[in-house]
Amino acid sequence: MKGVILAGGTGTRLYPLTQLINKHLLPIGKYPMICYGIERLRQAGITDILIVMGKHSSGLYTDFLGSGKEWGVQLTYRIQEAAGGIAEALELTQNYMSIGERFVVLLGDNLFINDLRPYVDRYLMQPEGSAKVLLKQVNDAHRYGVPVFDQYDPTRIVFIEEKPVNPKSDYCVTGIYMYDTEVFSKISQIQASARGEFEITDVNNLYAGSGQLEYDTLTEWWIDAGTFDSLQEADRQMKGFLP
Ligand code: G1P
Repeated sequence: MKGVILAGGTGTRLYPLTQLINKHLLPIGKYPMICYGIERLRQAGITDILIVMGKHSSGLYTDFLGSGKEWGVQLTYRIQEAAGGIAEALELTQNYMSIGERFVVLLGDNLFINDLRPYVDRYLMQPEGSAKVLLKQVNDAHRYGVPVFDQYDPTRIVFIEEKPVNPKSDYCVTGIYMYDTEVFSKISQIQASARGEFEITDVNNLYAGSGQLEYDTLTEWWIDAGTFDSLQEADRQMKGFLP
């Protein structure tokens, strides 16, 4: 199984810091943000990792992380030329995967405490061609993708609403996804959204529509460190997480 960390994007909510350096290289504790995702994957036994990054700061990633040897992983890099959305970034990983291969995708600004291994193990028991998203209960669901559960069978997600004004649940879809290479055919079926990006939520909704989307819930602390407040909270929570 392989891992993907998506670390592109412009990080506008963290201007002016992100004019200097890409969001995923900002310090959390003693390390750049991206290191925490690498460590979560490594601890789950996933050591072949592809990082998708923007052009801005790309040399800094390779300067700091190199081949990944020091981190106990093997890193490969791809560049997303312009911010075209999470699904577009994911599409750049296609030729890194063997046909039918399964992989974990992390958004590089999602920081969390839970060990990924049990979630990965449960995903590996799912049927071929299905996907898994990890949810987290939050009190500001309107900022995220929000699952709408089947009213007769709450173990099923019928639809995900992206940043709804009136969220239908208090869960968010975190940036932790599990797919196999079927995801690339799903990506080819979606259109750009109103903000001109290829949205991962549209991809996940294709899975939900065909009854191939499963979910699990994170039980411990999680954050999307895309704002100054969440960046500071991430710094407090993750301090000491890496030696
Ligand atoms: C993205 C996804 C959203 C998800 C969030 C998690 O949003 O589109 O569905 O809930 O990541 O971090 P973004 O942070 O890119 O606005």
